Amino acid sequence: MPWLSGICTLWLLGFVVLAQNFNVVSPQKNVIPAQNFNQRTGLKTDCLGSYMRLTVDKSLAFGSLVEFDVMNGSQIEPLTPSLASKCGFSIDSDPWGNYRVFASLFNCFAENEDDHLFDINMRVRVRGVKAEQDVFQVEKTCTHDQWAPREVLCDRNYMEVSVNRLPGEITAMRRQPKMAERQAKGDYQWPDTVSEAITSKYNIWRMVFFTPKQKAMVLEDALKAGYGVITTKSRLVLRSGFDMPETYVENVNGIPMKVIKVTTYFKRQWSVTMLDTVAACPVGGLSFTDEMITWYFPRVNPLMTSTEANILGMFMGIDGSQIDSAQMATRGYILTIEGNNIVMKIPIGGPDGYYKSHAVDNQYNIRYYIEPMLQLLWSEGGMDSTKYRVLFPIKTPFMPRPPQFVDLTDVDKRMFDVILGPFLYDVELVNITFSAGVLTLAEANVRGFNIQEQRFQNGSKAFRLQVPFSDSFVVRTQTDLLLTVYNLRLVYGFMIFPESISFSYIATVDVTLQDITLPTVGGSCDKEKFYITISYGNLGKNFNIMLGKRDLTPDLSAEYDIKENVSHMSLVVPFLAFDVAFELMYPSSLRARLDVLLWEPVNKWTLSDFSLACNFPMTMTECFSNGSMSALAVKVESVPQLNPSQLTLRDHSCRPKFSNDRFAYFSYDANGCGTTRKFYDGVMMYQNEIILGNGPPVYQQGKSGVTTLPPDPEYRVTVSCFYTLNDTQTIAFFTKPRENEPLPETGFGELHVVLRLALDGSYNNFYAEEDYPVVQYLRSPLFFEVVLLRSTDPQIELVLESCWATLKEDRISTPRWDLIVDGCVNLADNYETIFHPVTPGGVPYPSHVKHFEIKMFTFVQNHVMLQDQIYVHCDAVLCDANQNDGICKRLCPSPIPLKTGNKVRRDATNDQNQKAQLSTGKILLSAS
Ligand SMILES: *[C@@H]1O[C@H](CO)[C@@H](O)[C@H](O)[C@H]1NC(C)=O
Ligand SMILES: *[C@@H]1O[C@H](CO)[C@@H](O)[C@H](O)[C@H]1NC(C)=O
Ligand SMILES: *[C@@H]1O[C@H](CO)[C@@H](O)[C@H](O)[C@H]1NC(C)=O
Ligand SMILES: *[C@@H]1O[C@H](CO)[C@@H](O)[C@H](O)[C@H]1NC(C)=O
Ligand SMILES: *[C@@H]1O[C@H](CO)[C@@H](O)[C@H](O)[C@H]1NC(C)=O
Ligand SMILES: *[C@@H]1O[C@H](CO)[C@@H](O)[C@H](O)[C@H]1NC(C)=O
Repeated sequence: MPWLSGICTLWLLGFVVLAQNFNVVSPQKNVIPAQNFNQRTGLKTDCLGSYMRLTVDKSLAFGSLVEFDVMNGSQIEPLTPSLASKCGFSIDSDPWGNYRVFASLFNCFAENEDDHLFDINMRVRVRGVKAEQDVFQVEKTCTHDQWAPREVLCDRNYMEVSVNRLPGEITAMRRQPKMAERQAKGDYQWPDTVSEAITSKYNIWRMVFFTPKQKAMVLEDALKAGYGVITTKSRLVLRSGFDMPETYVENVNGIPMKVIKVTTYFKRQWSVTMLDTVAACPVGGLSFTDEMITWYFPRVNPLMTSTEANILGMFMGIDGSQIDSAQMATRGYILTIEGNNIVMKIPIGGPDGYYKSHAVDNQYNIRYYIEPMLQLLWSEGGMDSTKYRVLFPIKTPFMPRPPQFVDLTDVDKRMFDVILGPFLYDVELVNITFSAGVLTLAEANVRGFNIQEQRFQNGSKAFRLQVPFSDSFVVRTQTDLLLTVYNLRLVYGFMIFPESISFSYIATVDVTLQDITLPTVGGSCDKEKFYITISYGNLGKNFNIMLGKRDLTPDLSAEYDIKENVSHMSLVVPFLAFDVAFELMYPSSLRARLDVLLWEPVNKWTLSDFSLACNFPMTMTECFSNGSMSALAVKVESVPQLNPSQLTLRDHSCRPKFSNDRFAYFSYDANGCGTTRKFYDGVMMYQNEIILGNGPPVYQQGKSGVTTLPPDPEYRVTVSCFYTLNDTQTIAFFTKPRENEPLPETGFGELHVVLRLALDGSYNNFYAEEDYPVVQYLRSPLFFEVVLLRSTDPQIELVLESCWATLKEDRISTPRWDLIVDGCVNLADNYETIFHPVTPGGVPYPSHVKHFEIKMFTFVQNHVMLQDQIYVHCDAVLCDANQNDGICKRLCPSPIPLKTGNKVRRDATNDQNQKAQLSTGKILLSAS
């Protein structure tokens, strides 16, 4: 091991940065005129002690890519990261595109004049969108001659140490004893002029790196490995990137420091000189609270050979420039010594730094960035002093800033109104994903969503979005019959610029409103159809329609004449349509009902339940005067199982003439099919029943021995034809098993009983209506016939209850003369009324006919003939041929002439309607 030659250099106490902003910047080729170049281009250079700062303003680049070149003489070298850390450059930019380049004055390419004047040549290239680029040349001369014996610079990407390589005389003297030793060995030469020479670059024999194990390299290998080693007129400069293999981390008071430690051996002839170069730069020591950054730096650091080192100066800077205590105070910066540490405190959020957005696991975070500088000057006794500078970019840890989602929705305006924020300046809203799709901002605004960016005073912003409830992107859910939930689900798509990092934010906003107008149904009927109108309410046609028991399908729309517009639907349903239910049968009408149910298909809610029942005229029973009858049986909804084809009359062999699944039509005669006949008070009623043809009702013997009726048959319609003498009444009793509403109704038919005057006693020819007045001689016979026309029922007997003559046409006028009273000839009549028997041979139904004869007479009052005319009237009733009481079987006394002027008024029956009231036309007495 050669003997050591430590070097102690001249020291400078205090250092003044002699910096003049003396920029020489000229355009290289295309764009920029020479004058006022700085302002126009936004390029600025500052000499800041041992380095130069080049600032490229964002206005120069407008977000384009900016690249830097260095000039190695006339050669242009792109400034790559490895070249930068090897050669003493660092580049940094902020989100706006402002660049800050630091160049050590001892960088590889500076033209160094006596370690006093440094010329730095660089180029700035701005690459535009089209491959064109603008190139600016930057030339700067910095003057700096206040070099401390040792200067350490911790830049962002490298550590640099420079030491005075020219040992002063004192040093040489001090080392003399050792040199004397060497001299004694014969290899000593008094270093009068050799100092300069021996520590020159060309004498570098080897370099020993402490990692902390020793590792020796020759200069060439060290340069090849990426270390920067240069000698200047007075100094040896060593530069190393932070991640070079021969660096190591040393923990100092818990603060990690990166160390590069090299001893350089210079050898010339017999002499070896060594220079120690050590740089140690902090790579930690930060602690953060929400408001404050605290940076701890060890007061005693590996660069100090003893703990006695005396700190002579301690300064703070920002972005590479030193600031004074007044500036520090306004910003709230603090720089103190606390115990073993130098402590710098920086409030988070100050204007010297900036915030930046980050997406961390898709969560919104921000960070605060600031680049303080710490500058120390210490001396370790005697004249050794070190000037130490750290450019220390700090970024706080990620600070989660979940944005606030503020719901300002105005229900009255039916508009979602939400604000999301705050976000930093560098966040842009790119798109919004709705449940139905994605819209870019522009698309959303076109759609009317009114997206606004709101700015706060501090530059933060928030995004406001308005979406009408009515938009189809709003999901509407009906939670019950009347409540609607309007739901807006949003995924905001954000992008952080300039890095183009995206993140998203999911938000949901709900409004529940009772704003549903349910659809309604209305309707009316005429004689044939139901007219239904459905009004949709405010949800449109979101319901299904059930008519009766069926859903209304599109195929039925023609059948029911469905018409629709945006708000209404109408349909017309004939009363015999399949979907109509029959409630009740009446003799001449059918009560039919249409049920309309509106229901919501998803939740099966009933929205409207409407029924309309009307009576539709319909002939159910017809009673013909010849005794034929027809009846229609209808399947009513209370007997759902009924098969109409199985219906019969009482006589089960009498089946429907026609049937389908809802109707059975019967046609039968009074004489057949089990039709019964009833007479009472001159009224005749035919009756039959329509029943299920499963055998006649039978009486059963119950267990108790009591006779009980079997349960009512399921279906029984009693059909009655009800005849009085000149009209027919039909009555259909519908007997239902359980209902309380068998409603008989009466319909009217025709039955003709006539009173007519025969030409003679043969009763073959009769006067017609137009023959009246008929003229007859006094006491000549008048032959009257009363006949029930058309009926074919032999069981009916026509009975004349009374006949009389009047002077006037009015049948109840006076004077009047009784001819037949209570079915018998008027015994008081002088001119006897004569009944003539009707022989079976002459007419088909003799019991339907009565013949009687009177003699023409006139009314006389006080022996004065009143007028020469009469009218004849009869009341006739129908009787059962087998009946034996009342007028029908009255036995008349033998015709004994009784002289009496009293006319007998009898009230055979009070009910005039049950009699045929018959009258002739005028019969005139022949004047001749
Ligand atoms: C500068 O150019 C010279 C000559 O071309 C070359 O030898 C030297 O390595 C270059 N310097 C650097 C740092 O690239
Ligand atoms: C900016 O101002 C807004 C509104 O006053 C606030 O919510 C937000 O936190 C501020 N942002 C910063 C970074 O201070
Ligand atoms: C919406 O924007 C975000 C953020 O930029 C992006 O990641 C996403 O792909 C976009 N979505 C669509 C569908 O374009
Ligand atoms: C739709 O039809 C209904 C009833 O037919 C009518 O009252 C209404 O005015 C119509 N509406 C439109 C928009 O045509
Ligand atoms: C009775 O009259 C009706 C209607 O005129 C007719 O259809 C029917 O055949 C007649 N019945 C008889 C038995 O003549
Ligand atoms: C009987 O028939 C005649 C003629 O058709 C009519 O004028 C009269 O009102 C009827 N009588 C009754 C009680 O219906």
